[in-house]
Amino acid sequence: MRYLTFALGKGRLAKQTLALLEQMGITCEEMKDRDSRKLIFVNEELRLKFFLAKGPDVPTYVEYGAADIGVVGKDTIMEEGRKVYEVLDLGFGKCRMCICGPAKAGDLLNHKELIRVATKYPNIAKDYFYNKKHQTVDIIKLNGSIELAPIVGLSEVIVDIVETGSTLRENGLTVLEEICPLSARMIVNQVSMKMENERIKKIITQLKQLL
Ligand code: PRP
Repeated sequence: MRYLTFALGKGRLAKQTLALLEQMGITCEEMKDRDSRKLIFVNEELRLKFFLAKGPDVPTYVEYGAADIGVVGKDTIMEEGRKVYEVLDLGFGKCRMCICGPAKAGDLLNHKELIRVATKYPNIAKDYFYNKKHQTVDIIKLNGSIELAPIVGLSEVIVDIVETGSTLRENGLTVLEEICPLSARMIVNQVSMKMENERIKKIITQLKQLL
């Protein structure tokens, strides 16, 4: 039997993904060792391999078949736009993609002004402003601490993830518009879905019973 390979997004989602796999009887002790620099882990018994990758790289590994299965946030799936099947909402990592800014920036959205939008998600922002809101904007790509942008005057608003809302609150910003709800999803390589259909379906069924 060939190995089925999982690509898991590093960071916030990884812990919950490993906990879920553990509930299914899929354990990978080596992976929990925080000090380890090892990148790939094998469960010989179940013929499974796991690796941790940067979130935005997970759909890439899955599209090219370097991983059969991936677990990653819906935000990343939307932003990357890779050819993969999204097969399951895992229900954790729940948050929202929003347009945020100081309350007074709400008018700029209503009047469709040419504003600057800072974001880690330029494709999602472009799609929302151009195709849904029909508002022309300048998109500025940042790599983190997006909430800074309107505070220091880089942009009028941001497109970013809101979970508890505390980052916004502590920085005097607010949600101006909700784009979509987000959560962790399981994605599958399109060829693997055909070639390993039984094994993958079994994993999906098992996961569904736990959710
Ligand atoms: C994310 C997001 C917000 C924050 C939202 O950033 O970009 O800044 O979490 O969470 P909250 O609503 O619970 O405050 P993250 O911590 O992942 O780091 P980043 O700033 O480097 O993107």
